[in-house]
Amino acid sequence: MDDLERLATAVRDADTAVAFTGAGISAPSGVPTFRGDDGVWEQFDQGQFAYGRFQRDPEGFWADRVDLQRAMFDGEFEPNAAHEAVAAMGRDGHLEAVLTQNTDGLHGDAAAAVDEGNDAEADGGSGATADEPTVLELHGNSQRVRCTDCGKRTDGDPIFERAAGGELPPTCDCGGVFKPDVVLFGEQLPGAVLQRSRSLARESDAFLAIGSSLVIEPAASLPRLAASTGGTVGIVNLESTPCDDVADAVVREDVTEALPRLRELIVE
Ligand code: APR
Repeated sequence: MDDLERLATAVRDADTAVAFTGAGISAPSGVPTFRGDDGVWEQFDQGQFAYGRFQRDPEGFWADRVDLQRAMFDGEFEPNAAHEAVAAMGRDGHLEAVLTQNTDGLHGDAAAAVDEGNDAEADGGSGATADEPTVLELHGNSQRVRCTDCGKRTDGDPIFERAAGGELPPTCDCGGVFKPDVVLFGEQLPGAVLQRSRSLARESDAFLAIGSSLVIEPAASLPRLAASTGGTVGIVNLESTPCDDVADAVVREDVTEALPRLRELIVE
């Protein structure tokens, strides 16, 4: 039995299986990863996007953020076969939750696409199966912005357009400054999201870490937390990670190969 088969058995037999994803699952969709030779942090300095800079210099922060948004999310990008396999595993009732560090919103798009597919099938009488897994965006969503005064959340595209046109920083109708709806460096993750992520990792009897270098805390501790309570930990990643030592299965394959194969093995 190879590592992927071992993982398929663990997920199939699990009461609570959780997927945890990083930039590597979106790389095949054209969204750049953060680390590695052509990573985002080779082009930009993380300090430009720190919470302290947003508070100190919102105008300069926004001027740089427009460039980062273009570098990361320029053009159309769609969920890939790995997102779809994860969404399908959720619809099959094999995933309790998808915890993602990604802010591209592609897990939500994939789940919606699987939904549409299933609805179409359901119309043909084959019926949908389990309910949706929870998608927890640990670092927020770059496709939205939030007003720092009234808290209003809105679609980010028009606001980024306004900032690119010189409105620096872009402001809400209430006069408050908009902030990208993501967790910035130096900013606390929302307490409830972090608490829920930790309890899911603790409860999980199968924990899949997919496409993450597992170096950013607190997310990087989740595989260890899962392992500490006896869960089977699987890591699907092209490069080694600091959590490989606690993994029961390490799959050094492209996510677009490994995840569809994993889903097939589970439903075999
Ligand atoms: N298939 C499998 N693994 C892949 C693929 C692929 N097609 N492409 C890239 N990878 C792997 C890389 O080997 C790398 O280890 O995905 C990992 C991506 O790591 P990072 O770029 O560090 O991304 P991530 O782990 O999500 O970063 C965490 O850091 O900068 C912050 O907020 C940012 O959410 C991000 C966090």
